Amino acid sequence: MRLNPVFTQLGTYPQIALDRKKAEVRAAGKTVFDFGTGDPVEPTPEPIRQALINSVPKISQYPKVQGSAAFRASVASYLDRRFGVTADPDTQILPTSGSKEAVFHLPFLTIDPATEDNLVVFPDPGYPAYDRGALFAGGRPWMYRMEGGWKQRLWEVPGEVLRRTRLMWINTPHNPSGAVMSLDDLKRTYDVCREYDILLASDECYCDVYDGEPPASLQQVADEGYLCFHSLSKRSGMTGVRSGFISGDPKWVQAYRQFRINPGLVPQDTVNAGATVAWQDDEHADSRRALLKRKKDMFRAFCADVGLEIIASQATFYFWLKTPEGIDDEAYALRLLDAGIVVSPGRYFGKSGVGKGYIRVAMVPTIETLPAALEAWRAVHQEEGWTP
Ligand SMILES: Cc1ncc(COP(=O)(O)O)c(C=O)c1O
Repeated sequence: MRLNPVFTQLGTYPQIALDRKKAEVRAAGKTVFDFGTGDPVEPTPEPIRQALINSVPKISQYPKVQGSAAFRASVASYLDRRFGVTADPDTQILPTSGSKEAVFHLPFLTIDPATEDNLVVFPDPGYPAYDRGALFAGGRPWMYRMEGGWKQRLWEVPGEVLRRTRLMWINTPHNPSGAVMSLDDLKRTYDVCREYDILLASDECYCDVYDGEPPASLQQVADEGYLCFHSLSKRSGMTGVRSGFISGDPKWVQAYRQFRINPGLVPQDTVNAGATVAWQDDEHADSRRALLKRKKDMFRAFCADVGLEIIASQATFYFWLKTPEGIDDEAYALRLLDAGIVVSPGRYFGKSGVGKGYIRVAMVPTIETLPAALEAWRAVHQEEGWTP
């Protein structure tokens, strides 16, 4: 079988040892508390489900790449309410099948593999689609290591790199660290990208998942050469529906619309009908946040109790933690699995290894199961003598 070498050289995800042990723990009949994957278990709000169900058409025809006018108006109203920005629904908004595909495919529009200036810059640790999209499109990934306070200070990327860069990713709030970029950080990054004529793409799929100050958006400081990526996956508990949107510079939005006709990256009308209801409504997002805050408060109190240090973690439903003294992230994750606790070792995010010594904990277990999970976790610390 002859395959694209980009595909064969990707390598497998490194969590084989963890997955094997998780299967063993399950097979032994032990309760598993999964803080691993960022896939919420709280139900999709009923009005959104109803809109999805009620919009299944009798006659099914091809949907439009730009989606319905109602969908785009709903998104424009959300952007106005949430960030105080005005977006033209006809030229500045496009629906996506979740943000992953839209993130992955963007380099196909921006990168010319034959040229020297084919770099794609993104934070490390980070979401794998930045790297993988760049590779498949024939670009060269350049990773910005998020050391120094777990911040994305991409304006510090050296000039000789920026000169060869066509696309830069930022991710705020950031997966896995939960770090948030301030308006000032966003403006500095934007200014550098304008100076070097780089498309700045901001992955903001966690912008409504917070329990403190609402995170800012690139759209508040940018007017050209930028795109923002949003999603209903985490905001509305709709990972399975696959729905998001892109907004930004009309020239880039229109170019991406043209591109997306080629692979047929077109969400179904039914999905857009559910999404129209979801972006119109803030109440369900508020109540999801209220529940998240209760979980996060419980978890913060637990960390203070057992002496686990929380790093960054200003937003998202993730906590980024330093492992206890003397144990690395992978060994710590394996040890926690003895007690049925699943967490993600920091080294699994990104390629540079900057996440070694950290773990990511997703607030996915329900509020009802959280106390039992934390008791099991506490017992491990007591057995190992890690509790202060
Ligand atoms: C940073 C980041 N971007 C994008 C995505 C993709 O989200 P979706 O495709 O569900 O919108 C995720 C999912 O976990 C993510 O963590």
